[in-house]
This record gives sequence, C-alpha cells and structure tokens, in this order.
Amino acid sequence: MNQHTNPDREARNILISNDRGGYTIPTEGLYPYQWNWDSAIAALGFAQFDIDRAWIEIETLFTGQWTDGMVPHILFHQQDDGYFPGPDVWGCDGPIPSSGIIQPPLAATMARKIWEQDADAGETRIRELFPKMLAWHRWIMKWRLDDHGAVCTTHPWEAGRDNAPDWDKAMARIDASDVGEYQRRDTSHVNSEDRPTKFDYDRYIKLVQIGRQAGWDQQALLTQNPFRVADPTMTFTTLRAARDLLAISEQLGLDAEGLGADIADLEVGASSLWNEDLGVFDSRDARTKEWSGSISNASYLCWYAGIESEKMLDRLKAVLASVPFPVPSYDTSMPNFDARRYWRGPTWAFMNMMIGFGLAEMGHEQRAEELRVKTKELISTYGFAEYFDPISGSPAGGNAFTWTAAVWLHWAGRD
Ligand code: GLC
Repeated sequence: MNQHTNPDREARNILISNDRGGYTIPTEGLYPYQWNWDSAIAALGFAQFDIDRAWIEIETLFTGQWTDGMVPHILFHQQDDGYFPGPDVWGCDGPIPSSGIIQPPLAATMARKIWEQDADAGETRIRELFPKMLAWHRWIMKWRLDDHGAVCTTHPWEAGRDNAPDWDKAMARIDASDVGEYQRRDTSHVNSEDRPTKFDYDRYIKLVQIGRQAGWDQQALLTQNPFRVADPTMTFTTLRAARDLLAISEQLGLDAEGLGADIADLEVGASSLWNEDLGVFDSRDARTKEWSGSISNASYLCWYAGIESEKMLDRLKAVLASVPFPVPSYDTSMPNFDARRYWRGPTWAFMNMMIGFGLAEMGHEQRAEELRVKTKELISTYGFAEYFDPISGSPAGGNAFTWTAAVWLHWAGRD
C-alpha cells in the first residue's frame, strides 16, 4: 500500500497550508496556535525549501518570550474557539497571550542546524536570537532543576508527552475534585480513543488553575504545584540545547558565561535518571523521589544529549528488530502499553528524528539509518499523521500534521 505518490510535494504543501503568517499551526482544528517545540521542528522542514521562512518561525516564537526569559508552550496569536484551554483560562500577561508553562527547548538546537545549513544567510539571525535563547536556558536552570540537576516538568504538557505513563503516579496524587465544569474541544476533532482520558484532563486543567492562582510566580509554584517530575525529555533536550548554545557562542565569539558549568551540572542530572533496576533512563518524581518505572521513547534521547549508553543501544536494537514501526512511545512489553492512546504506545516521527540525530552523531550511523528507513516507510505508506500505531502502522490523531511533514523533508524522506 502506498497512497502517497509524491510525499515531498505533499509535505511542503502541509507546511505551506499550516502557515498562518510567521508561525505554523501543528494541524488545522485540533491545534490552531503556535506550539513551542512543534515550531522548532517546523523550522527544520521549512529550511529545506525556504530558509528565510525557517528563521521567521523561530523568531516569531521568541516574540512571545516573557521578560524573565521564559518561552511559553503555546502562543495564542489569534483567538480560536475550537481549542480549550485558551488564553482566558491560562490568565498570563506575556507580550503575546500565552500559556504559563514551557515545552522541551529545541529552538537552540534546530537554529544551530539551520545556521549550519547556510552560515552566511543565518549569521545575523542567530546572533539576534542567541541572547534570547540563552535567557530561556537560564530560566530553565533557575526554576526547573531537581536536587540532582535533572530537569523537571511541572505539567504533563510541559514535557510535551501529555499522557505518558511517566506521570501516572504523580497525577494520581492530585486532587481535582473541585476543577469545575469545562468543555474539552480535542475530542470533537479526533477519536476520543486516541486521546487522554477524562481523569487526566481534569488534572491538566487543575494544574493550570493552580498556576493561574499563583500568578505564574515560579517561586510560589516551587511549593504550591503538586506536580514536579524530573524527566528524560526535559533533561536531555536542555542538556543538548546547552551544548549547542556553547558551540554557537564559541564560533561567533559571544558571551556565554556559565554555560560550561551548566553542562557539567546537567550531565550529572541526566546520569541520575538512570534507573538501574529497569535498565533505562526513567522519570523520577521530585517530590516523592519515586521512579516512574517507565520505558519511553524519551529514554532513547540520551545520544541526542551526547550521553552514551550501551544498555540503551542493546535495548534499541531489540526494539528495531521486534516492533514493525519503532520507536513506540511506551515499551510494548509494559502492561499498560496502549498502541493507539497518544503517548502510551504510539510512534511519533519527530521523536524518531531526534533519536536518529543523536545516534548518528555518536557514531551509531547504521542504527540511525535503520530508524530513518523505517520512519520513511511509515510516513510514505500511512501519511502525515500526528502519530502512528507502532504495530500496524495505522495513522492516529490529527492529520496533515506539521512536524510529520517537516520530519519527512529534513530527515525521513532524504536518501
Ligand atoms: C500535543 C502533544 C505535544 C504537542 C502538541 C501540539 O499536546 O503532546 O507534544 O506539542 O500536541 O502538536
């Protein structure tokens, strides 16, 4: 079965039709605003045919940066009633209406890649962006580290893996009985079987209410937010971004005081996420110190962060050999693996790409290539879905999805 006869053209058209003028929505209907880490991936896709537009994507993201350095996970550039929770629920007062949390910091890493693709075209752009990206990095170092130097997520949406089993224990401890009435919009756009449950959604909204009541004051939220989990997504992407910022600063002679020390601290933090019993990089609740006991696709971002692990490599080889469309967002051997429900099993092409970047950079080219080819087969057969069933390959969630198109153009579709 191959319904996608010209995937290059299709991928470009998806980016172009999701372009809202300076920023790209992830998909029409379900996600009608600018999402932080989606944008960084979108920029990589645009760089394959319009490098100026690629820079604009990242520049627009930073127009939403708060004065303290924080870069929100959603920028609500234009009101859209098809999405909940919108700006009125978050109650934030940044330069652009926004959410009050972040997402994994990919911007510095992807900006560096775009700059390397055309150094002349990119030099003034990256010089302008550098202090903003550094300020965001410093904000994360100030507010999100746990006692070991691992980076915490303070809302499941912050790590970008909304309903991952990593959060189950921490979510179960949240009392959401007074969350009140609200109307979800996601399930009117896509199949509810593919989406987070009501139990999860009540807690997502409760955490937004807690943040809002605290006026998004990070000092207050250090004690008031019941959810604080150190996780591989936040930790590995922050470490990787710090390495990229340091490399950019060295090449351009920019001041990056403290970055070397931050990298050393983050390396310790990243190593602290190794769960020896499970033999994997796991999440750890910063409040209870308990492991999540989760084998996720984020566990395989170690190479992306410049961290070698033979045990993770063995595990990856086994997954590549046994799962038709790897890498599942939750290991198929785990009891609560769910092939269709969002971050509890499905394969996400952009995560594969980041895993592939890391593998290739750390000398595991053959594995990176294996993963790329399988991702290519997945997209060219089943299309530009938000995510895919790792066993059958069948597409799920939203379609004509920006980051899946970008992954095709930048990585999966390039032989
Ligand atoms: C979902 C995903 C998140 C993504 C967003 C927009 O919330 O879990 O990672 O950024 O959708 O695509």
